[in-house]
Amino acid sequence: MLTELQLRNFRCFESLGVELAPDFNFFIGRNGQGKTSILEAACVLLRLQSQRSATLAPIIRFGQKSFAVSGRDKNHALEFRYSPLRRKISLDQVEQRPLDEYLRIARVVSFANTDIELVRGSSEPRRRYLDFLAIQIDPVYRPTLRAYERALRSRNALLKSPHPRSRELAAYDPQLLEHGAKLGTMRARLVERIAPLAAAAHREISGTGETLLLRFTPGNEADFAGALADSRTEELRLRQTIVGPHRDDIELLVEAKVAGQYASEGQQRTVALALKIAQARIFLAEEETPPLLLIDDIFGELDPVRRNALLEHLPAEAQKFVTATTMQWREDGCEGPVWELRDRELIRR
Ligand SMILES: Nc1ncnc2c1ncn2[C@@H]1O[C@H](COP(=O)(O)OP(=O)(O)O)[C@@H](O)[C@H]1O
Ligand SMILES: [Mg+2]
Repeated sequence: MLTELQLRNFRCFESLGVELAPDFNFFIGRNGQGKTSILEAACVLLRLQSQRSATLAPIIRFGQKSFAVSGRDKNHALEFRYSPLRRKISLDQVEQRPLDEYLRIARVVSFANTDIELVRGSSEPRRRYLDFLAIQIDPVYRPTLRAYERALRSRNALLKSPHPRSRELAAYDPQLLEHGAKLGTMRARLVERIAPLAAAAHREISGTGETLLLRFTPGNEADFAGALADSRTEELRLRQTIVGPHRDDIELLVEAKVAGQYASEGQQRTVALALKIAQARIFLAEEETPPLLLIDDIFGELDPVRRNALLEHLPAEAQKFVTATTMQWREDGCEGPVWELRDRELIRR
C-alpha cells in the first residue's frame, strides 16, 4: 500500500505530491487534467512499466530529459529516475540491481475504458494482458519475452532485406524456437489459471447466468520447429515470421460464441471486467499483499448495476485509485479522500 507518491517532470506535471489513504483514493477533474498520469505514476513506481504505454520515454515531460517518481509504503521508500540513457531504481536510498527485491514489493491491476479492446480488438491487447500479469508473478517471464522479441525482430529485419538468405535466416531459428517455446508454455499455463477465475468473476458481475469460456490459441503448432520450417515459402513471400507466440491469442466465448463478434457492448465490458478481476484474484492468491487497483474513468461510465457488482467483487483489502470527471455517481460503500485536479494542482475536497 502506498502512503505517498511524488512526481517530477512526469507527463504534464512539473512537480506533484499526494498523500494516499489505504482504501479508496479519488482523483477528479476534466479531461486532460492529468488524472491518468497520476495512476500511471503509481504503476511506473511500483512496476517500472506503464499500464498505458509500451515504453517509458513518452512519459518525460515535454522539453525535459528525465522524469522521477518516488513514494513510500509502510516499510520502504521507493524511487525511480528515468532518462533514455539511464535508469536508477532505489529502495530505501540504496540503488537496486538486480531488481528482484524491488519488484517483489507490489503488484498492479489497471481497469480502464479501453479494456473493451481486450474483447473486440485485435489479439495484441490480449497478449499484452497476459504479459502484464505474467511479468508480475514470474521473474523468468520478462527476460524470456524480451529474448523472443529480439530474435523475432532480427529475423523479420532479415526477411525484409532485399535478398534474405535461407542460411542466415536459419541462424536465428534456434533462439526463436527456444524462447518461443518457453513463452508459449508459460502463456498456455497462465490462461488455464485465469479461465476459471474469469468465468467465476463473469458469473458474479453479469447477473445473467451466461458462461464465459477462455481458450488459449497458440501462434504455433506444438511442433514449433516443424511449423517454422513449413512456413518458409510463405514467410519469404510476406517478408515476416508468421508462426510463433507473437501470434498467440485468447479466444473469449460467451455462451459458446466469440464475444468480440457477437456480444453486445455491455456484455463485452462485463467480459473485460471479469478478465481484470481474475488478474487481481491471481495476485491475491499468489502474493502476501493485495494488488494496487487503478480504476481509470470506469465508475462514472458503468451503469449502476455493473458498477455496484464491480465494487462488491473487487478485493476489499486492496488499495484503490479511482479517477472520474465527477463524483455524482458515488454511493455508499466507497469512502475515501477526493482530490480535484485543476491547473496541474491537487486540491483536497
Ligand atoms: N510527456 C508529456 N509532457 C507534457 N504533457 C504531456 C505529456 N504526455 C501527455 N501530456 C499531457 O498531459 C495531459 C494529461 O493527460 P492525462 O493524464 O491523460 O489526463 P486525464 O486522464 O485527466 O484526461 C494531457 O493534456 C496530455 O496532452
Ligand atoms: Mg484519463
